[in-house]
Amino acid sequence: ADSRRESLMIVSGFAAKFFQESMWDTDEGKSIGLSYFKERGFTPEIMRKFELGYSPDQWEAFTGAALTAGYQEEFLVESGLSVKRDNGNLYDRYRGRVMFPIHNYTGRVIAFGGRTLKSDKNVPKYVNSPESEIYHKSNVLYGLFFAKKAIRDLDNCFLVEGYADVLSVHQAGIENVVASSGTSLTVEQIRLIGRLTQNITILYDGDAAGIKASLRGLDLILEEGLNVKVVSFPNGDDPDSYVRKVGSTAFKQHIEQNKKDFILYKTSILLQDAGNDPLRRAEVIREVVESIAKIPDHIKASVFIKECSYQMQIEERVLLSELNKMRLTKA
Ligand code: CTP
Ligand code: MN
Ligand code: MN
Ligand code: MN
Ligand code: MN
Repeated sequence: ADSRRESLMIVSGFAAKFFQESMWDTDEGKSIGLSYFKERGFTPEIMRKFELGYSPDQWEAFTGAALTAGYQEEFLVESGLSVKRDNGNLYDRYRGRVMFPIHNYTGRVIAFGGRTLKSDKNVPKYVNSPESEIYHKSNVLYGLFFAKKAIRDLDNCFLVEGYADVLSVHQAGIENVVASSGTSLTVEQIRLIGRLTQNITILYDGDAAGIKASLRGLDLILEEGLNVKVVSFPNGDDPDSYVRKVGSTAFKQHIEQNKKDFILYKTSILLQDAGNDPLRRAEVIREVVESIAKIPDHIKASVFIKECSYQMQIEERVLLSELNKMRLTKA
């Protein structure tokens, strides 16, 4: 089984090289893939570091090269790089896409995300590798290999949604950044971060989906016993588009000035919807206490109850009795 895993990693590494050469060294790659990344503002350094590439817009460019180089069909298919036709022939999964290799904790390529260059709504924006013996997407964070040292040193991890967000934030000099890419945040991903730091700052897209995902992610992080803060971005922006718009210095300022602890964040989001309706405001308070009830450390939880009491102007003992009720029904 270990040699199968090794074979899959070797073929993935070969693919990453193939896609890189296709981008840097071919006319099609330069004029389509490389210029796409350049237009997005990525530097050659960041492209090389993250091993970005381009898959030629042909049916068998990669598969042909891999077979010629002696790689076995079995591993081409299992890795998802090639797809088997009914007649048994293989074709390339990624065609005419810019390629983001996904690295494991030790820096080996285990999967890919491929972004289309078309704006056609019927074409999926990203095609990702299927699950395989070396790639369980719920256990992987995009960018972790490049971020782990900075996460430890700075004792904080920025969590973003997408590949481009990781690259742009990293390029702006903030290297402690990872993405849950292609899946909503999982417990396993939080535990990976938890080996490096107890502090996570969520930087999700400033749209309805991003806000919803941030509220869900926040509860999961609290349940795992880690500390969580959230930074919002203007609607329509994600960290990548925002840093490109305002530049690296203003981006860092935005983070410092807008990071909120989870209580402040959750109340401000939920209160926007509740308006002045007292019943709905009561419901907001209950939902915030629900998040506090997830914190395993009861001393920490009581500190947050105090903060909530202060912010919402509700007596602490009322919140505490609510908290205790929730803990009882959970146990
Ligand atoms: N994603 C995916 N498949 C899709 C759409 C999104 O796997 N069809 C994942 C990708 O990892 C993507 C992330 O979810 O990076 C966030 O999605 P989205 O915000 O839509 O994309 P961006 O990362 O902002 O992509 P871009 O800036 O390239 O448009
Ligand atoms: Mn499995
Ligand atoms: Mn989005
Ligand atoms: Mn984006
Ligand atoms: Mn986005």
